[in-house]
Amino acid sequence: MNTIQIKDKTFAVSIPAAVIQREVARVAEEINRDLAGKNPLFLSVLNGSFMFTADLMKHITIPCEVSFVKLASYQGVSSTGTIKEVIGINEDLTNRTVVIVEDIVDTGLTMQRLLETLGTRSLKELHIASLLVKPGKLKIDLNIAYVAMRIPNDFIVGYGLDYDGQGRNYPDIYTVCE
Ligand code: IMP
Ligand code: MG
Repeated sequence: MNTIQIKDKTFAVSIPAAVIQREVARVAEEINRDLAGKNPLFLSVLNGSFMFTADLMKHITIPCEVSFVKLASYQGVSSTGTIKEVIGINEDLTNRTVVIVEDIVDTGLTMQRLLETLGTRSLKELHIASLLVKPGKLKIDLNIAYVAMRIPNDFIVGYGLDYDGQGRNYPDIYTVCE
């Protein structure tokens, strides 16, 4: 299945599952190497990063913990700019090494909001792991330590990412056809 239809849009495969899996495993190895002995807390940003988080965690071999936070900023195919925290962070993050696990950093506004929230929690270290980054759309100066793949500005779905709530279930990533 090389193209899919979601509502009014057609999407074509742009990153096959095997490539995603290879890059996710590479990121996990970098984290295993860099954060050994630090008992990192992976903070997965729902909904989009659920697949990335699951696959990443399967390759993490150092002692670690995982938890979930939920934010919302996107409707349809363009950022609304308003970000509301839906589910807060319940863990005590004092003196912890935290790794934010995101599906995609687009403008960076969502990540900035999350960083502001975490900034008041007396963390020891904070790192960002993002499955995807669209460097051409980044508005905020962010240090993203772990990036699986850098992609062009086009809208994508699959592997956790949605168009209007649908398309999260595919193992491949698809780009919208013009
Ligand atoms: P930002 O705040 O502009 O960086 O947007 C971040 C959020 O928008 C991501 O966590 C995604 O949920 C969503 N998003 C950004 N680009 C895409 C895309 O191409 N497809 C689906 N969702 C996207
Ligand atoms: Mg997201």
